[in-house]
Amino acid sequence: MPTHPSSPDPHPGHPPAAHSVHTHDDIDWSARVADLRRRDDLERDRYVDVAARLTRDLPADAVVVDVGCGAGGMGAALAAALRERGGGTLVLVDATEALLEAARVTVAGAGGDPVRVETVHADLADAAWHAHVPAADLVWAAGVVHHLPDQQTAVDDLAGVLAEGGVLALAEGGLEPRYLPWDLGTGRPGLEIRVAAARDHWFGQLRAEMPNAVPMPYGWTTALTRAGLTGADSFASVTEHPPPLRGVALDHVLDHFAWVEQSLGEHLDEQDRDTLRRLLDPDSAEHLGRRDDVAVFDLRTIHTARRR
Ligand SMILES: C[S@@+](CC[C@H](N)C(=O)[O-])C[C@H]1O[C@@H](n2cnc3c(N)ncnc32)[C@H](O)[C@@H]1O
Repeated sequence: MPTHPSSPDPHPGHPPAAHSVHTHDDIDWSARVADLRRRDDLERDRYVDVAARLTRDLPADAVVVDVGCGAGGMGAALAAALRERGGGTLVLVDATEALLEAARVTVAGAGGDPVRVETVHADLADAAWHAHVPAADLVWAAGVVHHLPDQQTAVDDLAGVLAEGGVLALAEGGLEPRYLPWDLGTGRPGLEIRVAAARDHWFGQLRAEMPNAVPMPYGWTTALTRAGLTGADSFASVTEHPPPLRGVALDHVLDHFAWVEQSLGEHLDEQDRDTLRRLLDPDSAEHLGRRDDVAVFDLRTIHTARRR
């Protein structure tokens, strides 16, 4: 249901039962506000570039919908791009109330007059969310569709939100991020390669255990075309922070490996788990924060297509 930042009741006119929105991936997203915010800080430059590219050809007073908006980093870049173009409407959609609120606050700081901001608390797997969103000139969906049981249906639904001529942009896939040297001088070389394989197992398990999950055995541009859109295309977007890392970039790497230890531990052997413990232990001489060779190189792919 749509909510407006100015409203004292974030869900006017709807009974509480209608808010029992949930995700389908068994991930506690509300516990991830701080790390998604940190990742947003780290990726700000990339967001600005992508937002400029995607909004360049939009009509005046455009409507942009950011679905699965997370902590609002890209929402802020989209709001700033709309403001530069003279205004428009940005609709933030997410199933996690804590993230939707974080995004609303972040975007309010970046948009302002003449950009209108609305929030919609909804489960994207429930097509009813459509009814609360205006016809969009751009729909941005980053890292959310793969968390839904039926990804093709989700892409179809996202395409259904588009106004004539509107563009759907899916940020999905890319390359595994690289943070560490191959030989860390502790544990077995190649830790990150095994972490990537562990993440692949974890993701396969997440999809396999997701209730009502439907396989999508083809790529994102094919999914966009099957949704009835035309001109499907892809481009890459890179976040790069060369070593030595300090501040938010180092915190992001520590967040990442803390998540690896917590969520992927069962897919790694005891020696790698032990290496991770030492890399993350602030009292250890091997703590990542003591290294001058940790970097961030992260490439994401963005797939776009248009409604004719
Ligand atoms: C990996 S985060 C991506 C956040 C943001 N788009 C970004 O790129 O940083 C996934 C987001 O999708 C949201 N999400 C997951 N399942 C959802 C669902 N079924 N309906 C709506 N949002 C969902 C989560 O709450 C979270 O904000």
